[in-house]
Amino acid sequence: MTKKRMLSGIKPTGQLTLGNYIGALSKFVDYQDEYEMIAFIANLHCITNPQDPEELHKNLKDCVAMYLACGLDPNKATIFLQSDIMEHAQLGYIMCCHTYMGELNRMTQFKDKCAKGEKNLTGGLYTYPSLMAADILLYDPDFVPVGEDQKQHVELTRDLANRFNNRYKDLFKVPTPLVPKVGARIMSLSDPTKKMSKSEESNKGCIYLLDTPKQARKKIMSAVTDSLNQVKYDPENQPGVSNLMQIMSSLTNKSMEQIEEEYAGKGYGDFKRGVADVVVERLEEIQSKYNEIINSNLIEETLAEGARKASSIAKPKLQLVQQRLGMEIIR
Ligand code: AMP
Ligand code: TRP
Repeated sequence: MTKKRMLSGIKPTGQLTLGNYIGALSKFVDYQDEYEMIAFIANLHCITNPQDPEELHKNLKDCVAMYLACGLDPNKATIFLQSDIMEHAQLGYIMCCHTYMGELNRMTQFKDKCAKGEKNLTGGLYTYPSLMAADILLYDPDFVPVGEDQKQHVELTRDLANRFNNRYKDLFKVPTPLVPKVGARIMSLSDPTKKMSKSEESNKGCIYLLDTPKQARKKIMSAVTDSLNQVKYDPENQPGVSNLMQIMSSLTNKSMEQIEEEYAGKGYGDFKRGVADVVVERLEEIQSKYNEIINSNLIEETLAEGARKASSIAKPKLQLVQQRLGMEIIR
C-alpha cells in the first residue's frame, strides 16, 4: 500500500523555539515512518518583512541543521529549501489570482498587524496565505501538520483547492490540517496569554532550541504562574501552570492526570524544576546533534537531494495546472 503524504514548512525567521519543536518539528519526526513526509524551509515567507541578509542566511542553515538534529532523517523525509523550487512562486501567483481580497482581509496574522497599527506592511505579507496554499497544493498532500496558528491558512488552502477543482476539473487533493491535541499552542513563559513566538520583544518568555541549559532553566524557573499553588490542568484559570504541563506532557508523553498525581501536594518550585529537567535534557540531545551537523556537508547534501525529489513532483504539477488554465502553448 502506498503511504499517505504529509507536508509542512517552517519559516526560518529567527531562531527556532521550543514552541516550533513541540507544535511542529517533533510531530514531523513522529510521522516520517508512517507517512511520506515532505518538510521544507519556507524562506520565501520570511522576506515578507525586511531581513538582514547575513542573519537570514545563518538562520536558514541553522533551520536545516535543526530539522536534522531534531530527528528528521533525509533518507526518509524530503527536506528542501522553498526558493530552490521555482514552481512555488509561480503557482503562488496563480493562487493569488484566485484568492479574493475579502479572504485575505480575514486572515488573523494580517489583521493583527493592521490592528496594532504596524507601518510599511508589504504586499507579500498580505498575499502570503496564497503562497502557502501553493506550497501545499503543488504536492497534493493528504495531511498538513501545523500548530494552531496556521490552521486558518490550511482552511483557506482547502477553499482554494475546491475552487480550482470546480472551475478546472479535479486538479488538487483537498488537504486536511493536523493540529496536535497537546502542544498546538505553547504559550509565552512570561505572559501565558500570548503564543511563545520567535518575534517576542523580550525573550524571557521564549525558549530557543539553542539556549544554553542555564538560560532555559532560568526562563522556566521564572515562568509566570498563579497563587493557587496546585499543579492542575486548567488553561482558563491557571494558564501558566497549564502551559508548563503541556510542555512536560509533550516531551514525556505523560498525561495531564499523571503529571497532576506526580506533583500533588508539591509546590511550584518542585514542579518547575521537573519541567526544567525535562526541557534541558531534550535541548542537550538536540544541541549535541546540531553541533555535529552545522559544520558538516550534510546540510548541502540534504538540500540538493531534497530539491531533486521535490522538483520531480512540483514540475509536472505546475505544468498540469497551467495546461488546465489554458495558459500554455509550447509543452
Ligand atoms: P513559524 O515559527 O510561525 O514558522 O511556525 C512554524 C510551525 O511551528 C507552525 O506549524 C506553527 O504552528 C508552529 N508553532 C509556532 N509557534 C508555536 C507555539 N508557540 N506552539 C505550538 N506550535 C507553534
Ligand atoms: N506559514 C507557515 C508559518 O509561518 C510556514 C509555512 C509556509 C507552511 N508554507 C507552509 C506550513 C505550508 C505548512 C504548509 O509557520
